[in-house]
Amino acid sequence: MKEDRKKILDQIDEKMATLGQETETHLKGLLNAKPITYWDYIHTDALLNLQIPRTTHKDEMVFIMYHQINELLFKMILWEIEQISFHEDLQPGFFAERLGRVSRYFDVLTESFTIMKDGMEVEQYMKFRDTLTPASGFQSAQYRKIEFASTDLINLIDARFRETIDRETPFENAYNHLYWQAAGKNYSTGEKSTLLNLFEEHYMGEFIHFMKKYNTRNLDLTFMALPDEARHNVELQNQMRHYDHTVNVKWVMAHFSAARHYLESGSKVAEATGGSEWQKYMLPKYQRRIFFPKLWTREELDGWGETNLDGHNTLEEPLLI
Ligand code: HEM
Repeated sequence: MKEDRKKILDQIDEKMATLGQETETHLKGLLNAKPITYWDYIHTDALLNLQIPRTTHKDEMVFIMYHQINELLFKMILWEIEQISFHEDLQPGFFAERLGRVSRYFDVLTESFTIMKDGMEVEQYMKFRDTLTPASGFQSAQYRKIEFASTDLINLIDARFRETIDRETPFENAYNHLYWQAAGKNYSTGEKSTLLNLFEEHYMGEFIHFMKKYNTRNLDLTFMALPDEARHNVELQNQMRHYDHTVNVKWVMAHFSAARHYLESGSKVAEATGGSEWQKYMLPKYQRRIFFPKLWTREELDGWGETNLDGHNTLEEPLLI
């Protein structure tokens, strides 16, 4: 027997011994196994059977599939963030490299948003959207998880209530003051919209669990816990700033621009399917969602969503760390 084949067999024997298994049985299994195919491995049949329009309008397919592509990329993003946040010996190089992956995925989402803005006939969209009320992309749970995993919870609290929330606040209470509650909650009566109620019925428990999981492990606090020298690594700082700016300004503006294209196409401004005051709610300058506030200068923070930052560290002014 060739030396390298023997070496592999010895390694397999060793592995099987630790599992309490017989190598011979597994080898016989190999003899009878079906060859793997692309379609079995990628599960193309399952994947391509998940697009089910509710109307006869052809462009509804564009809408469904682009949302599904978003959800797949959201999953890829969460996969990488988890590797950073739960790494046992995190080094700045690994952090920057994995964050680079996350940023590339979000760059794709931002740059491809024209698929939504320019890729559907307005007349068709305005018809099939009626069958979607009261659903909205607002109810994407993975999008919310990306937020929880990226930043300290306080940065997701509605700016009007930040003073009232601290680390002692129960998660349920913090949850009820997240910035996005503003899309579906009347703060004077406490009443929530159907959009929000359905979302919470389905996901609230999962969200609270996830918030706890990332409470001290989110990207913001993980970065701040690095040694001083690592925190001042310019490559890492640039990756963090690029990611923050892409998610919270560029993507948000691409999304807003698509919403305007469709909802302002008629003689009067249309209501959002989810029912929010979308023209205000969706803008970064009002939302002020910033994942890594200490990585921006005071001036950059003041002009958030209004000045055209390219997400790169100019280092002309000291950052707030
Ligand atoms: C024609 C395309 C789109 C339009 C007109 C549109 C419109 C809107 C509107 C008006 C809102 C505000 C909430 C409400 O519904 O009242 C919203 C929220 C949202 N949409 Fe879209 N959207 C579009 C595409 C997408 C896509 C492709 C995604 C990707 C998953 C998405 C994800 C979201 C998310 C995550 C929110 C919540 C944002 C936040 O809380 O800041 N939307 N959308």
